[in-house]
Amino acid sequence: MEISKVGVVGAGLMGHGIAQVSAQAGYGVVLCDIDQGCLDSGLGKIEKQLSRAVEKERIEQETADAVRGRIDGTVDQQDLSDVDLVIEAITEDLELKRSFYGDLDGIVKDDAIFASNTSSLSIIDLATATQRAERFVGMHFFNPAQVMPLVEVIRAVTTSDEAFQTALDYAKGLDGKVVVPTPDKAGYIVNRLLVPYMLDAVRAYEEGVGSIESIDAAMKAGAGHPMGPITLLDFVGLDTTQAIAEIMFSEFRERRFAPPPTLRKLVSAGWYGKKSGKGFYDYSGDKPVAVDLSV
Ligand code: CAA
Ligand code: NAD
Repeated sequence: MEISKVGVVGAGLMGHGIAQVSAQAGYGVVLCDIDQGCLDSGLGKIEKQLSRAVEKERIEQETADAVRGRIDGTVDQQDLSDVDLVIEAITEDLELKRSFYGDLDGIVKDDAIFASNTSSLSIIDLATATQRAERFVGMHFFNPAQVMPLVEVIRAVTTSDEAFQTALDYAKGLDGKVVVPTPDKAGYIVNRLLVPYMLDAVRAYEEGVGSIESIDAAMKAGAGHPMGPITLLDFVGLDTTQAIAEIMFSEFRERRFAPPPTLRKLVSAGWYGKKSGKGFYDYSGDKPVAVDLSV
């Protein structure tokens, strides 16, 4: 199937980046969020990234304007009726996503493909909320989507050869992306390995192996990671990581996927990490400062 217009739903950490890389590849994009404030914030981030690229002389102002001009923001799902592909990046919650897909199925034209950017849910559990399970795939981008090359493309048992090939071709056509097909197993490849690592960093902290800063510093300097695991947790979002951990724990029943108590405590406090200004670190100053969690 020929893709020319794409709907990206959810303008948060992931959705705004997916919208930007899609527009950079020449697609018309409808970026939809349920919340006007979140939509405006996502569009603002895209504009900031494009301005930065112009300042750094990586693209011409004309190109930046053209990319921005290809993205229409909306809070009305009806504006997705004529897109060829929907990439969904809303909150990691099975019931929320299923309810969303049930509604969307009646709005978007029948031959369009649905792709979920879920981090951990089985694609089949989302596909069955629609009447188009054969045109339903997973398309898992990494944060920040503008920078991280990988896209895992996931095939559910119901996905047709044609829809899967279309999704692979779409992801391969985005500038610099590395595409890895994966089977429909919760967490796919990267999160199956990365999520237990991040959760274990919190357990190490809880067990007194090191402070928040020392665990991060050690993994950066000793293992060559661009961010320490606790900074990465804040970057991904503690609410999202907790949801991923709960989903993977319930799927595999293994302790390595269980959310540790400190993570649950911070999510309960509404400290979701960098996106909310506070998590394991406080982002209100010039530099992030580790929060004292000894109470
Ligand atoms: N959005 C868009 N672009 C961003 C960005 C963001 N949030 N953060 C950084 N960038 C861009 C910058 O514009 C910069 O590009 P230019 O140099 O071309 O201007 C480039 O990335 C490098 O940025 P910085 O020099 O500011 O910072 P850095 O060198 O420390 O890199 C980073 C930032 C790329 C985020 C790097 O720290 C990194 O790779 N961190 C690890 C990220 C990671 O592991 N992501 C996967 C998370 S897990 C996941 O996504 C799956 C899931 O389901 C949870
Ligand atoms: P986020 O909290 O930053 O953004 C979610 C956005 O979805 C919000 O703007 C919210 O208003 C919007 N939303 C919620 N319900 C909606 C609905 N019914 N219709 C339209 N918009 C709705 O979350 P995020 O980090 O961008 O994660 C989004 C998805 O991407 C999740 O499935 C997550 O697991 C996955 N993911 C996250 C990361 C990451 O590092 N954060 C990486 C890869 C994949």
